[in-house]
Amino acid sequence: MRIDYAPESLGAGAFYRLLTSVVVPRPIAWVSTLAADGTTANLAPHSFFTVACTDPPIVQFTSVGRKDSLRNIEATGEFVVNLAPEPLFEQINASAVDFPAEVDEFDAVGIEREPSLVVGPPRVAASPVALECRLHSTLGIGDSTLVLGQVVHAAVHEDAVVDGRPDIRRLRPLSRLGGNEWGTVGEVRELARIPYRDWPTA
Ligand SMILES: Cc1cc2nc3c(=O)[nH]c(=O)nc-3n(C[C@H](O)[C@H](O)[C@H](O)COP(=O)(O)O)c2cc1C
Repeated sequence: MRIDYAPESLGAGAFYRLLTSVVVPRPIAWVSTLAADGTTANLAPHSFFTVACTDPPIVQFTSVGRKDSLRNIEATGEFVVNLAPEPLFEQINASAVDFPAEVDEFDAVGIEREPSLVVGPPRVAASPVALECRLHSTLGIGDSTLVLGQVVHAAVHEDAVVDGRPDIRRLRPLSRLGGNEWGTVGEVRELARIPYRDWPTA
């Protein structure tokens, strides 16, 4: 037996809660931006986040409604996706407070920043990965806006790299689950992909 849910009878809010409980775990883009004045920084987590294109490298996140991050990116054409690591759990959550636009979350929450190499918005110094992005395009859909950014530079803490590749045990990314739940990296398994020529019936 299954329980059936129709979006139109459940209502937008309840269906949103259902969706975010089942599209899990979601990686978290901790997005840093600069306001149009070029000085006030902004930092906010976004879990509607993924890779949109491999060549050129493009990532995407979704702003549900119009928020400071989106407004800043529209104004400056730049943002940084910082990986949201487990040791910064409390700060990541605090940076999601709906501070007024003129509040710099780095200052308000006490998060150390460092300059980016290629773009204007600062990076989170203690985050092991920063993807510096230039706005590729936005796409308005319903109450949300997809933000696509071309990654123009990636900076990874050297102690997070093992055998030439960022290591999941060193990155320790948090993920977003349903409601107020967050995930941490659990058991990691390896399994090689099977080429068709190795499939038993090929
Ligand atoms: C873990 C987590 C994930 C979130 N994901 C999103 C998201 O994908 N899209 C969104 O619009 N808001 C998301 N939020 C809420 C924003 O972070 C929050 O509205 C924040 O205040 C926006 O900041 P800004 O106005 O400075 O851009 C999330 C919050 C948390 C704690």
